[in-house]
Amino acid sequence: MFNYRLPDRAADLEYVGVAQVSELGNGQRLLVEIDGRPIVVFNVGGAYFAIGDECSHDDGPVGEGELEGFEIECPRHGARFDLRTGKVLCTPAVVDIPAYPVRVVGEEIQIGVPS
Ligand code: FES
Repeated sequence: MFNYRLPDRAADLEYVGVAQVSELGNGQRLLVEIDGRPIVVFNVGGAYFAIGDECSHDDGPVGEGELEGFEIECPRHGARFDLRTGKVLCTPAVVDIPAYPVRVVGEEIQIGVPS
C-alpha cells in the first residue's frame, strides 16, 4: 500500500498526461498506472476526478465500483468514498484513499502525483 499523503505544496506535484479529453467522455472512467500507483480518473459532468484504485479496507478495486453522484462504492465490501476528496464515508473502511488533482492542458488530461 502506498503512502497516501499528498505533498502540501503544489510545486511538489508532477503532472502526468493520461488521456486526451476526447478519450474520456461524460460518465466514463479510465484506469491508469503512474509510477506503480493504480489510479482511476472519472469524467462526471465534464469535471475530472482521480482517486487511488485501492480500497483502504482490503485493497479492493474501488475504481470499479458503482458511482452515485460523487460517491463511489467499493465492489468488495461496500465501503464508500467521496470521489472529490478521497474521504471515507462509511465502514468497513475507516481510512481515506488518495484523491489526486486533475487538470486539462490543451486537450490532455493530466493527473498530479507526488514528484
Ligand atoms: S476492500 Fe473495499 S470495502 Fe473491503
